[in-house]
Amino acid sequence: MPIRSHAEIYEKVPTSIFPDSATAARTLAQEVKQLIEAKNQAGKPAVLGMATGSTPVPFYRELIRLHKEEGLSFKKVITFNLDEYYGLSGDHPESYARFMAEQLFDHIDIPKANINLPSGTVPGDQVFVHCRQYEEKIQSVGGIDLQILGIGRTGHIGFNEPGSSRDSLTRRITLDRVTRQDAASDFRGEQNVPHFAITMGVGTILRAKKLVLMAWGDNKATMVAKAIEGPMTEAVSASFLQDHPDARFFIDNGASRELTRIKLPWLVGPASWTPRETRRAMVWQAFKTKRPILKLIDEDYNEHGLSDLLSEQGPAYQLNIRIFNQLQHTITGWPGGKPDEDDTYRPERARPYPKRCLVFSAEPQDAVVGMGGTIDRLIEQGHDVRLISLTSGSLRVPDSEADKFAGTLLELASNAVHPEVWSPQVEYAREALALLEEKGEFGEDPPLLRQLKALILRGELRDAAHTLGVSAEHVVFADLPFYEEGRYRRFKSTQADIDAMTRLLQDHKPHQIYITGDSADPSSVAGICFRLLVAALQACAGEEFAGSCSVWLYRGKERPLEPHEIDMAIPMSPLQLERKANAISRYGALSSLEKEAPETSRENARLYDSLGLAEYEAIESFQRWRRA
Ligand code: GLP
Repeated sequence: MPIRSHAEIYEKVPTSIFPDSATAARTLAQEVKQLIEAKNQAGKPAVLGMATGSTPVPFYRELIRLHKEEGLSFKKVITFNLDEYYGLSGDHPESYARFMAEQLFDHIDIPKANINLPSGTVPGDQVFVHCRQYEEKIQSVGGIDLQILGIGRTGHIGFNEPGSSRDSLTRRITLDRVTRQDAASDFRGEQNVPHFAITMGVGTILRAKKLVLMAWGDNKATMVAKAIEGPMTEAVSASFLQDHPDARFFIDNGASRELTRIKLPWLVGPASWTPRETRRAMVWQAFKTKRPILKLIDEDYNEHGLSDLLSEQGPAYQLNIRIFNQLQHTITGWPGGKPDEDDTYRPERARPYPKRCLVFSAEPQDAVVGMGGTIDRLIEQGHDVRLISLTSGSLRVPDSEADKFAGTLLELASNAVHPEVWSPQVEYAREALALLEEKGEFGEDPPLLRQLKALILRGELRDAAHTLGVSAEHVVFADLPFYEEGRYRRFKSTQADIDAMTRLLQDHKPHQIYITGDSADPSSVAGICFRLLVAALQACAGEEFAGSCSVWLYRGKERPLEPHEIDMAIPMSPLQLERKANAISRYGALSSLEKEAPETSRENARLYDSLGLAEYEAIESFQRWRRA
């Protein structure tokens, strides 16, 4: 029997971790190219199983490039998609049929007759037959050669929600609440997300000859680890990939974070005890033993596979104190630095004071949700804080809000003393109402509606900012073009976005920047915005402000930072927490994760307390971004 590596002992499915999604997508596309060519040479079609969502988009873009630049032909390719929303026709903007057409099929030479998707409009009494025919069709072409998969936040593949059995076949299923929440921004509100879908079953998927599951960003990390290392269970349908002889995971760094080899590397092989790894091990050990850092003893180290660390950096007493001090020094009530104080052990430098702080939000609500308490402190301490909403966020706003706003405008005008003065507004409101009517519940918003929805969000952000003491002129709306021209799960940024971001930096010349999205799926709005900032900082590299400006990463919708990752912890008083909650409440359309933000900052404080550091009501945490 071959010797299995330590990683393989934990990982039950072969897993490749790529530096980024683009590299993974290129690798997979090359494999697909070879598959198509080999099959075609043998005189057979290649049968591909396709997936939707943001995850496969870079892979599809690479296939299109191979077709256009390297002549890869799809004439003898047959495709079967995993799933479709039930109730949506193929031309609905959020149907998977339309998604596939826009993201791949319209750009390659695949014959229409070779494309297969479950129908979202088959009448209820024919669903069963339709599903059986779908299965039969897959079998009639010799089965799927390679099935591409993504993974949902419930651990689903296709739409096989928790409870789907190992042998399930193509069928209609009810979507999980979490899945519908995740699709809320695609559909401008959870209430518009279909309740049902038709999906290939787990059994159907496992019949493919090869499977590759892709996942990007740390929001997928927990589910990815469960699927790869956890027990095979109906609770996580992706875990059934363990039961397939040729299944693989292609993931990026963010999605790999919860794997044992990344999270607890000392359990897997010899660890390199960098300062961050040492902190990670100590924090983990403290939580495991339920002891504060200063109370860890030799036995704890030995029993938790850390004797190596102890012999390298011990004795325990001194190691404990060293790490305790490091963690203590992350706590500061002065996010902008404490003026006129020794800053040797403080997270932020004392000078200059006051600082110009740019707080970036990928979408209007992000900064207040992720760091409302810190904004409050920065203002209180006299810094010049500017909230910059990088995108308008308009795609998230439900039609009902636009309807309400236009209705109010009309009513105001009809009650005005001089109604004639209001005629442009009346015209605007009437046009908005007519457009809403015309496009129907699911149609795409024409520019006027997008503008109206953006205005609604502008009002909300100004209002939330005001409760934190940020004046209206310090709230900036950048409306980056990638968002205005795109849709969720398929945004594409260009040089115009980098230029806009660069201009922002040059206009404001910040001393401090706060941003999120560093570990997010690179195709998410936050992920794109973070990468644009990195590119803009590079573009400004020669300028004085860019060299000295510090960049702090906060967490918005993403997984909260773990204590060992935190470089700056800003404690919040109960009153500040209340102000933050109040500011958050100004937003109309928040996801459940965003609504939980005050509780997340309470949880941060509990963790610091259990490490024996300090007891606070809540903490907002930040990581220093280090330039490569
Ligand atoms: C939907 C699809 C899945 C997909 C998942 C994740 O639920 N039915 O096939 O894997 O979304 O989407 P994303 O790739 O956008 O994260």
